[in-house]
Amino acid sequence: MTSQKYRKVGLAFAVQGAFLGLVGLSGCAGVDAAGESDEGTVASALSDQDCDSTIGAHLPGISDEEFEAARTEFAKVTTPDDGLGPIFNERSCGNCHKLPVPGGAGDETAERFGRFNPDDTFDSLSREGGPLLHLMTLGDWVNEDGEACQVPAEHVPDDATVTTDRLPPALFGAGLLDTIPDEFFDELAAAEPEAVRGMVNRVHIQLPDVEDPTQVVGGTRVGRLTWKAATVGVTEFAAAAFRQEVGISTQHCVAGQSITTWAAEPAPNAVPVPVECQDNVPGTDYAVGSCDGNRTEIEPHARTFSRYMTFLAPVPRPRSAGQPPARQGEALFASVGCTDCHTPRAFVTPHVPFNGVPGDYAFHPYSDYLLHDVGDLGDHIGQNGETAEKVHLMRTAPLWGIRLRPKLLHDGRASDVAGAIRWHGGQAAAAESAFERLHPGEQFKLVAFVQSL
Ligand code: HEC
Ligand code: HEC
Repeated sequence: MTSQKYRKVGLAFAVQGAFLGLVGLSGCAGVDAAGESDEGTVASALSDQDCDSTIGAHLPGISDEEFEAARTEFAKVTTPDDGLGPIFNERSCGNCHKLPVPGGAGDETAERFGRFNPDDTFDSLSREGGPLLHLMTLGDWVNEDGEACQVPAEHVPDDATVTTDRLPPALFGAGLLDTIPDEFFDELAAAEPEAVRGMVNRVHIQLPDVEDPTQVVGGTRVGRLTWKAATVGVTEFAAAAFRQEVGISTQHCVAGQSITTWAAEPAPNAVPVPVECQDNVPGTDYAVGSCDGNRTEIEPHARTFSRYMTFLAPVPRPRSAGQPPARQGEALFASVGCTDCHTPRAFVTPHVPFNGVPGDYAFHPYSDYLLHDVGDLGDHIGQNGETAEKVHLMRTAPLWGIRLRPKLLHDGRASDVAGAIRWHGGQAAAAESAFERLHPGEQFKLVAFVQSL
């Protein structure tokens, strides 16, 4: 194996696990069932640490036992016997999404590459293994039948003209976001001033959440996940990430249709690896098999990851959210125009959400989840065939829980909130200049507010 860096992680997770349970909704400032930010109750004896102890807790709707088991699976370090590789970026979801608990953000980037066609459309270079670079490989090894295998690591192909790094976003609250109907995002876009209006990114569903009758294979849904809002929901991304990042392939059934999008092993720069060298058990790693008889079944590993992400509760706001300077920064955040994209509007789950998270539950991610032109922050990596103009756009990053992130922006180029603001351009240029014009004391308050979300 080529990398030994990430061994330590399992133990830390096991210790963390001891504290976690059902999220307590009282005490810390912030999201509350069917309510607004409960700043009124923060003047209790609670410290920020009490609030932080619930990070990684689950929403109502899943048992402690199931959630605990799902977290263990999410953080489980895989081996070639589990199907790891032949090329991969990490050995578990939790090795990247880890701060400060499995499902949090990460501080190590994954690299993407591509180029542009003569007509200025994006070419994801899939014929050369694009767009995601796999850093690791099973390397030189001897398989169970005693045959010598050699799997090269992937490299950025010579004809790639654009590359970008992307940080793993935090997954807290992903299940709440998954329940928000498409129309809500259309409304958010329509309400934005024209100069900063975001673009709703409708994408094709490859793997629906089978509990949602409105999602069907090949249908469309508003993309809300990834830095480019290119993925429709946690079920689909669970299968995609398992193959793309961990090299573990899966097959699923949806209403009699076999979903094989992630059933083939990734190959270094698309050069096929002999089947006996793909991992210790050749072929698709986990498959549900025949889909005859209108069968619907999401492969159990992917399903477990999606259950974990669905019920992973949002990060509670710290006690300092209800006090100066954070409290005073809220109005400044609005007045300079941050709220045009990082909307303070409450998102509210439907009365009976399809995925079992609480109904009528208000939460505040501080993002419209729409695509915007933010100038030099545009990374020019998108989906194959998209226009150059489109792949320049980035999704407004949600700001909830941002205090837990050591690196900011999609590629980690900023290490603090003020630094991140200064990189904003394009539609956000006016807000950035307005921030610059603030008195340093006011800038401090605005940043304190962002840190309290
Ligand atoms: C090598 C590190 C790495 C591993 C391993 C990894 N991820 Fe990620 N994850 C990322 C990165 C980087 C992104 C951002 C992708 C992008 O925007 O291009 C991401 C994005 C996501 C998102 C979208 C989050 C959002 O709000 O936009 C989900 C969901 C997700 N990952 C789930 C998983 C699951 C489930 C696994 C395990 C099967 C996993 N990830 C494994 C790095 C990783
Ligand atoms: C025109 C829309 C827009 C406006 C206005 C805007 N932002 Fe952003 N913001 C974005 C986008 C898009 C990103 C994601 C950038 C990227 O992908 O690197 C982002 C990222 C961020 C991040 C980094 C988040 C992370 O997860 O790393 C912070 C912090 C932030 N914005 C704060 C602000 C503040 C404070 C203001 C007001 C001064 C502001 N933004 C105004 C669109 C906007």
